[in-house]
Amino acid sequence: MQNRRVLSGMRPTGQLHLGNYHGALKNWVELQYQYECYFFIADWHALTTGYADTAGLEEHVWTMAVDWLAAGLNPGVSTLFIQSRVPEHAELHLLLSMITPLGWLERVPSYKDQQVQLKDRELDTYGFLGYPLLQSADILLYRPQYVPVGEDQVAHVEITREIARRFNHIYGREAEFETKVDKAIKSLGSRNAALYRSLRKDFQEKGDAGALAKARALVEANARLTVADRDRLLGYLEGGGIAVLPEPEVLLTATPKVPGLDGRKMSKSYGNTIGLREDADSVARKLKTMQTDPARVRRSDPGDPQKCPVWDLHQVYSSEQTRNWVQSGCRSAGIGCIECKTPLIEKVVEEVSAIAKRAQEFQDNPDVVRGIIAEGCERARDVARDTLAVVRQAMSLDYR
Ligand code: TRP
Ligand code: SF4
Repeated sequence: MQNRRVLSGMRPTGQLHLGNYHGALKNWVELQYQYECYFFIADWHALTTGYADTAGLEEHVWTMAVDWLAAGLNPGVSTLFIQSRVPEHAELHLLLSMITPLGWLERVPSYKDQQVQLKDRELDTYGFLGYPLLQSADILLYRPQYVPVGEDQVAHVEITREIARRFNHIYGREAEFETKVDKAIKSLGSRNAALYRSLRKDFQEKGDAGALAKARALVEANARLTVADRDRLLGYLEGGGIAVLPEPEVLLTATPKVPGLDGRKMSKSYGNTIGLREDADSVARKLKTMQTDPARVRRSDPGDPQKCPVWDLHQVYSSEQTRNWVQSGCRSAGIGCIECKTPLIEKVVEEVSAIAKRAQEFQDNPDVVRGIIAEGCERARDVARDTLAVVRQAMSLDYR
């Protein structure tokens, strides 16, 4: 395993559905075998829009923990934790709030959008405005290289990068930086030192992003560097100071389109979901009534899969052979919609019943789940404490 770190989080919204699974969770399950992964339940984030009703929060947290484990997140390789159990998130959020211009937060697209979308809630709050900054703190606390998110979260990682840059610019000054960085480069060994210098030159002079990525990888692969030297070398690549908080990159999740039963995006707020632990009968019942191409009123009317949400699901679940069968059968009215849905129902049932079965085991052993999460919280806290020590030092808050 490479020692590159990945961090991501999810709001506890209760039972997850197929949209959450194919949009994020399934990708996390794969990432955990390629990177050192930290995944957390963003319970404080749930408060930014849901502060008025917190009674169900605890249940949602544990339901999500069970869903994660049942879907294949492996606590042996990933660190799974709850945000509020690592209070360092709040401390870093507070410290970063001091250097964050209000305009940056007001300009985040989701700020205005969500206020419009959720207009039944009072969202003129300090917490709601600060939500992207809380997310920045979540991320920067673990100093990850990558943040796997969907398109809708890219702006949040972008502001995180800006905040990291600003922090490093204000607090990344260090006495005799040049001398120290020179020593750190030499400690890479002569070959890697030369490579580091030439990659840095390519980035600084030609803006070669590939060179920057290679140089970062070179630094990160070196296990013998001290944390301070690693920060110096990463900071020196991009500018002239120490990178106390390295800028994370988005790892854009290629998300398939997962329509809900009414053809809109699958979402809890639309009430059009298929749950990750839905039983077989209910899956079949829901899919049988799922919206199809509206032009196919009668069985004898030909249809167009392009206009049918069921087709989007076939693209997630079906083999090429089945997809070809759908295409020709639909366009020629050779198959009916129920017939078309049959192989899909089979695949979805297969997927969710395997997950439901594993979920049941965790559900029956809540102490096991609590133990896994408690351990994850401890591991996360160790990392968080280290980062805060460096942050406090950079801000001259490390009083003796
Ligand atoms: N804002 C994310 C969402 O609503 C959840 C989240 C919170 C997150 N903190 C994060 C995602 C940090 C990635 C990294 O889905
Ligand atoms: Fe949709 Fe299949 Fe019916 Fe065509 S046959 S409209 S793809 S459900």
